[in-house]
Amino acid sequence: MSDAKLGTVLSSLSQVARQLDVLLSDKPAPDASCVKLNTNENPFPLPTVIMQSAMAALERQYLYPEDDNVSLRQAASEAYGVSKDQVIAGNGSSELLGLIYRAFLVPGDSVAMMSPGFSFNRKLASLQGAQFVEVEWGQDHSLPVEQLLLAPAKNAKFILLANPNNPTGTFVPVADIERLVSQSDRMIVLDEAYVDFAPDNGLHLINCYPNLLVLRTFSKSYATAGIRVGFGLGHPEVIGRLRNLQNVFNMNVIGHAVGISVLGHRAAYAENHKHIKHERQRVTMALSKLGFSVIPSHANFLLARVPAGQEGSWWQAALERQKILVAFFPDAGLENYIRISIGTKDEMDEFLEAASDIAGTAKETIPLCRPSAAAASALTNR
Ligand SMILES: Cc1ncc(COP(=O)(O)O)c(C=O)c1O
Repeated sequence: MSDAKLGTVLSSLSQVARQLDVLLSDKPAPDASCVKLNTNENPFPLPTVIMQSAMAALERQYLYPEDDNVSLRQAASEAYGVSKDQVIAGNGSSELLGLIYRAFLVPGDSVAMMSPGFSFNRKLASLQGAQFVEVEWGQDHSLPVEQLLLAPAKNAKFILLANPNNPTGTFVPVADIERLVSQSDRMIVLDEAYVDFAPDNGLHLINCYPNLLVLRTFSKSYATAGIRVGFGLGHPEVIGRLRNLQNVFNMNVIGHAVGISVLGHRAAYAENHKHIKHERQRVTMALSKLGFSVIPSHANFLLARVPAGQEGSWWQAALERQKILVAFFPDAGLENYIRISIGTKDEMDEFLEAASDIAGTAKETIPLCRPSAAAASALTNR
């Protein structure tokens, strides 16, 4: 295509599309030999009964999947004790997040999110040409309900919070969420991606408050991140509109079969969840001994402040050299943290061994924030 023609085509695109960065294809493929603790997956095989349902679904590969995910929504409605009209099913909950942004926002609108929060939301807001308002968590990671009832959150089209929160792993009492939902006339999107590792959940509130939308995913607690199963639960008037906006055949036959089977066999994950909570505690204690300060977590990951005088990005790179992948966020306030997903016992042992090696060498390689001898004597001479 000539440059002139390309220019004409690009200028005919929407303003939002014209302002998007062009993604380049220079991202290397992930190294499968790494211990992957950077995206909060659950690294266990599916229970046999669920695997069998996935294999059986493969035999129907020539058929389109069921339209509007009817059987999966029916299974979810029975498992969660709500009506089918209160359930939308998605190709992971991130598809549902995308739908919510498309349905609720036009360019110039604003959306409010608790900060730090799940950073994908920032991208979704910018794709919609919307302003992204970040409201900081209160003291000890509490929900600042009164602040969320005032501008700028009050002017947002919806308020988004994750409980437990990503990347902090912190959990706020459901009573505080109810206080917000009951007093606010905004839509509250409660992302419960990690709720199966937490002590409580807010799903029952959807029957009392039409302005609450709860999101769930099977990626974290049911080990199906690669299969993509997520749900939105809320008032039928809201859910029905979101379903109407959804792409036809948004999920595939394996997602349907696995989703239905998981919903029927959630007890099969009891040991899995017990393991994750146990490892979460063990790794917290081991990291504390290495000089990390770990935020108490109610999710399947830990947000850990690296030892004093060191930086999160340095730790991420040092661990990556030992083939351990963890997450680092360059956002303000998170520069000294790394986020570590909880994997198998062997993976966590490998991580702790590498962290211990690195902690031993870090003192030699990282300049601690101390004045040099010359600067120190100049200071004392002043
Ligand atoms: C808070 C939160 N919400 C939603 C998602 C998306 O999950 P999925 O699209 O796999 O369902 C994630 C994934 O990391 C997350 O951390």
